[in-house]
Amino acid sequence: MSGRLIAVSNRVAIPRDGQASGGLAVGVLAALKEHGGIWFGWDGKTTDSEPHDARVVDDGNISYATINLNRTEFDAYYNGFSNETLWPLFHFLLGFFKYDRHNFESYLRVNALFARKLKPLLEPTDVIWIHDYHLIPLAAELRRAGVTQPIGFFLHVPFPGYDVLRALPVHEHLLRCLCAYDVVGFHTQRDLRSFQECIAQPGIGGHILSDGRIRAGGRMFRADVFPIGIEVEDCGSLAHAHRDNPEVKLLRDSLMGRRMIIGVDRLDYSKGLPERFHAYERLLQHYPDNRRNVVLLQIAPPTRTGIRTYNEIREELEGIAGRINGRYAQIDWVPVRYLNRGYDRGMLMAMYREARVGLVTPVRDGMNLVAKEYVAAQDPDDPGVLVLSTLAGAAFELEQAVLVNPYDTDGVAAGIQTALEMSLAERRERHSAMIATLQRNDINAWRSRFIEALRHGHEGEQHD
Ligand code: G6P
Repeated sequence: MSGRLIAVSNRVAIPRDGQASGGLAVGVLAALKEHGGIWFGWDGKTTDSEPHDARVVDDGNISYATINLNRTEFDAYYNGFSNETLWPLFHFLLGFFKYDRHNFESYLRVNALFARKLKPLLEPTDVIWIHDYHLIPLAAELRRAGVTQPIGFFLHVPFPGYDVLRALPVHEHLLRCLCAYDVVGFHTQRDLRSFQECIAQPGIGGHILSDGRIRAGGRMFRADVFPIGIEVEDCGSLAHAHRDNPEVKLLRDSLMGRRMIIGVDRLDYSKGLPERFHAYERLLQHYPDNRRNVVLLQIAPPTRTGIRTYNEIREELEGIAGRINGRYAQIDWVPVRYLNRGYDRGMLMAMYREARVGLVTPVRDGMNLVAKEYVAAQDPDDPGVLVLSTLAGAAFELEQAVLVNPYDTDGVAAGIQTALEMSLAERRERHSAMIATLQRNDINAWRSRFIEALRHGHEGEQHD
């Protein structure tokens, strides 16, 4: 790539121990490490006054350029429109969905602010890659400010079908904003098809051409599938390197030969945690040999604590975990170890490797990198088994996981039991097939395919 990569996301996540980073942070950081550039976004701080200009901190080949946000504006843009409106809508969870016109106006204003603060940092040969639902209008704002460089957008969450999207009063506005990009990327074919369906509605009038490009809003752009991947070898080496970390040793010793089931998720209602705990309880009920012999380690660092529903789920989970432990624990065995904190990547990889079962059961997820990292962290000679929700994007690629519907309590319990009973030969076979997929679609493939599409798409841009 000749020019720099300018990655833009709401939150700029400088890697830190215990930080609850989602798939976006992992993917963007890996893409930037590969060939350097700027990561632009919010610094995680709010102010009562006007936001300052971008502050730039260099770290190796990456410059982190961050701005702060006005407290009231942030509340409406981030807690309000991004996370109480778009997040539940895009995860098909209309029961959590709220809409407030003032929050939408703040969302537009913050996107305009991002454009104003980013523009002075740009060079003519840059390629701009904008990430996720917080920043859908950013390309339109940058174009308005005269930016002509290629601009791509990647959605890290699912894209809903038209019948769900149209619950949002301003859905046409957002769809038009997406048409201002040169490339729009999704994790799965299903997301792409939903987007095409929405773009073809009469209010937008987009045309899908035979080569997959889209003509809409007086311009041409490309929408395609780019499943995000991971650094496969890195996960295995980290797991190996942290094997004798004192905390990992403590964990291993404390298991006393019992088999561990692990779940690692941000504390978010889309992750299906109450459903998962119920399924684990069903496992103990229906397959009593597991009592005393398995442990569920659930790591769930809190996020978005400014939003009521996120605090409610925390309370709900504490209640269920307490109930399961109250009902089943014995003097020397506690069935659920529930930790409301994060761990650094090395520790996580080593813990994944200790676990016989990786339990990834979101009720909806764009991709879910925990699923991929769990597989990559396993010992190929004695790998654990991934139990994966069919409603996570990762299920489109990891077909050799034990696939379950997270709403089916008995089905998930049976899936965990299948994983616990699986023979070594079958575990190895499934693991090596999944590793081959992970290597084919790794983080470099994701990044290079997207940037190539962006350069190519921009050169080929035509107007009606
Ligand atoms: C998901 C989203 C990301 C987001 C991350 C953490 O992975 O797709 O955009 O950064 O969650 O959420 P937070 O609200 O803490 O940034």
